Amino acid sequence: MPVLTTEVKTEKSVDKQNSETQQHISNTAAKVQLQSVTKTYANGSHALLDANLEVKKGEFLFITGPSGSGKSTLLKLLYGQELPTQGEVIVDECNVATLRGDRLSLFRRRIGIVFQDYKLINQRTVAENVTFVLQAQGYTRKEIQRRLEPTLKLVGLLSKADCFPDQLSGGEQQRVSIARAIVSTPPLLLADEPTGNLDPDNSWQVIQILQKLNSFGATVIVTTHDEQLVRRCNHPVVQVRNGKLSRK
Ligand SMILES: Nc1ncnc2c1ncn2[C@@H]1O[C@H](COP(=O)(O)OP(=O)(O)O)[C@@H](O)[C@H]1O
Ligand SMILES: [Mg+2]
Repeated sequence: MPVLTTEVKTEKSVDKQNSETQQHISNTAAKVQLQSVTKTYANGSHALLDANLEVKKGEFLFITGPSGSGKSTLLKLLYGQELPTQGEVIVDECNVATLRGDRLSLFRRRIGIVFQDYKLINQRTVAENVTFVLQAQGYTRKEIQRRLEPTLKLVGLLSKADCFPDQLSGGEQQRVSIARAIVSTPPLLLADEPTGNLDPDNSWQVIQILQKLNSFGATVIVTTHDEQLVRRCNHPVVQVRNGKLSRK
């Protein structure tokens, strides 16, 4: 499996690795569809109401909306953490609600997820936080090493590989969590308010990293309520209001 390569070098080997990565991600980039999806939680909260959405392969989409409007629910439906009450969630022709056990685990391996609160393990170094999922998935040590360095370079943290999360700034911690999400070169990257705890400079860095992965062909969906950030980028936007979606 190809790795992420970040530096713009002219060496043939790096060029080759880059184009391998681009080809791999764009061959497998994910298409996402919501068809008349309603999500009502057990307590009666209506998070989504008859929501329809199509995200093309390789698209970079922002999802905006006030707190409580259903943004996180939408992402949870996409990676199968929640099931729709009605309607269908389809990722790459696969109805997510039909996946169980190993098939659900394999499906989730194709999705990178970034959260607002980083979710790093404090007792592990940056490198360990980035690679432990690969270890759990049985990647060889050689393959893990092959992937680690370019991924840390992409997020600008190679020099911090041996630091622990509490030795890093918030922006750096979020970049570790992005590295963890992208080290397996997932064709679909979901980021739930990844800039929610960051200042404008760090937010912009995070968006640029997500755009870089998108430029390799990955489908990227980012929730945010930072209108300024959305305006600064020229990506399509879907607004969620009271569980209803509309393309802006
Ligand atoms: N696990 C849950 N159980 C019950 N209600 C929930 C749960 N998660 C979210 N909700 C409700 O669903 C609505 C949408 O929440 P959420 O998707 O988290 O919105 P957002 O991410 O836009 O803030 C809110 O009214 C919220 O209270
Ligand atoms: Mg949320």
